[in-house]
Amino acid sequence: MVQPSERPQIAAVSAAPVERNSVVQLLGSPGSHAITVKGLSKRFQTKAGLVTALSDLNLAVDSGQFLSVVGPSGCGKSTLLKIVAGLVPPSSGTVEVGGKAVVKPYTDVGIVFQRDLLLESRTAIENILLQIEMRGLPVKQYVDKAKDLLEKVGLTDFSGKYPRELSGGMRQRVSICRALIHDPPLLLMDEPFGALDALTRDEIALDLAWLCERSRKTVMFITHSISEAVFLSDRVIVMTARPAAIVKDMIVDIARPRSIEQRDSAEFEQHLHQIRELLFQKRNS
Ligand SMILES: Nc1ncnc2c1ncn2[C@@H]1O[C@H](COP(=O)(O)OP(=O)(O)O)[C@@H](O)[C@H]1O
Ligand SMILES: [Mg+2]
Repeated sequence: MVQPSERPQIAAVSAAPVERNSVVQLLGSPGSHAITVKGLSKRFQTKAGLVTALSDLNLAVDSGQFLSVVGPSGCGKSTLLKIVAGLVPPSSGTVEVGGKAVVKPYTDVGIVFQRDLLLESRTAIENILLQIEMRGLPVKQYVDKAKDLLEKVGLTDFSGKYPRELSGGMRQRVSICRALIHDPPLLLMDEPFGALDALTRDEIALDLAWLCERSRKTVMFITHSISEAVFLSDRVIVMTARPAAIVKDMIVDIARPRSIEQRDSAEFEQHLHQIRELLFQKRNS
């Protein structure tokens, strides 16, 4: 895999690199947050009774911030992401994206789920361009951009291949390209590498870090991997078991661009330790 520093400039995704920890206001009015969650609760009616997935959750994410969300399985992470995406309505509370209330799905977002959801009848590039077709945008004008993105994730030679001809990691790279092709200011990712082996995960995380360091996107990234969260993020929030509450809100001030070697550093280990301790404590309490 190509190291981040060797990657060519990403014209398709962004312009210049940005200081990701600085407040870069790209969405909404100056001073607004990219994502504002206030008093958010979500209850599901199930056969076994009422399940409270989220209860009075508050969160503000700066524009341009890469936020990871970690927490035990079933604590409400996916529910939070789906509500932020407008795919699921909250029971109470509000979500604003770019200063606008989220009441239904919107187009200015890229979403990547654990399952890549590629259409088997379409080639890699056709799957990426599906995003453009669905939005009624001129497909021809985006072909070069799609090729450029494929190149950035090392898939130039696989543009014409069908999903069944691609490995799991390649398929997920294609779905990341599909989430980025329309250059959305917000990227929502729900355990996007969850189905991949450890080595592929590392490689693709490196690709994502590289793409995001050069773009001005706000990212909400849900993961089970603490190490992945610290590696990729400007900020990590740790949630408790259901109903999810934020027990730790940590800024990751490790310099960028980040390299895989940094994962062995003391400062990286220190961040990991803090999160691990919390998750472990909660599990045993
Ligand atoms: N559509 C649904 N109907 C009923 N219960 C649901 C639904 N979606 C999620 N839940 C429940 O809400 C809780 C949180 O789920 P989820 O957000 O998927 O957790 P996580 O992503 O953290 O693993 C779980 O107990 C889950 O069973
Ligand atoms: Mg989930």
